[in-house]
Amino acid sequence: MTKAELYSLYKGVYVPSSLYTPHSMKYYEDFSFRQDDIIIVTYPKSGTTWSQEIVPLIMSGGDQASVESLPNWERVPWLEQNTTCQFNLETRPSPRIFATHFHYNMMPPGFFEVKPKVIYVMRNPKDVFTSLFHYSKAASYFVNSGPQREFLHKFLDGKVPFGSWFDHVKGWLNAEDKDHIMYITYEEMIIDLKDSVARIAQHLEKPLDTEVIEKIADRCLFKNMKQNKMSNYSLAPRGIMDQTKSEFLRKGITGDWKNQLTVAEAEFFDEVYKDKMKDVKYKFVWDQN
Ligand code: A3P
Repeated sequence: MTKAELYSLYKGVYVPSSLYTPHSMKYYEDFSFRQDDIIIVTYPKSGTTWSQEIVPLIMSGGDQASVESLPNWERVPWLEQNTTCQFNLETRPSPRIFATHFHYNMMPPGFFEVKPKVIYVMRNPKDVFTSLFHYSKAASYFVNSGPQREFLHKFLDGKVPFGSWFDHVKGWLNAEDKDHIMYITYEEMIIDLKDSVARIAQHLEKPLDTEVIEKIADRCLFKNMKQNKMSNYSLAPRGIMDQTKSEFLRKGITGDWKNQLTVAEAEFFDEVYKDKMKDVKYKFVWDQN
């Protein structure tokens, strides 16, 4: 299907129209946040599903019931998707955990009033591109990635679902009130998952024993999540996500862009990155290598 058929524009950004309906967007805009809500915010392919495993385990003090009994989209629902309206979020006990791919300036009014806790997960955009390139072949609600060179230009121009990676990251990094936002990268989680779990738990004001942190980190290893049918999207209908084309939990590594981009493509990517990120002060792990 074409872009015109699959996407609609919300605040100038492409969203998959089958999942982001006028009804779900109205629900989202009117949503009543609670102070103790937790929101996982990501640009796609940056570690959302991983965080949807980590955060519930932290909040349950390591109890694995929710990650064993509820698919991730029900455990940590998307705030703005049409499925969300079915989950009776108003009656869920606190603390509720949600996910969103929306940019900072796309958040609804209630978010800015209540300032719930946010975990903003970022990933090397070259790896995001690589992951998205493969995922776009499997997800029926995304336009097929097509030839790599063309897809690279679309990605760098923000003409992909959820818009520009650069705008997303800069928007959230420039958030007005940062006290309720924790910034972490996929790369830090790969380097030291236990430390990342501990830092997230600290931000969520959930003290955990070292033993529990170790258990959570182990449960959230790529190889273990890949086995968890509640987290590997094997329960998603093939008409929505065809994992024979590309697995959702595909490789789970850093630096896979080196296997994907040609030297010329990587150089072009770097040039665009350097220009668009020139005013950003945040020290990304991937810039330090
Ligand atoms: P790859 O396609 O590079 O393998 P999201 O959930 O935001 O859509 O991100 C999906 C990416 O996160 C995929 O990357 C997926 O494999 C990776 N991922 C999911 N769980 C992971 C885990 N436990 N450890 C490392 N990577 C994980």
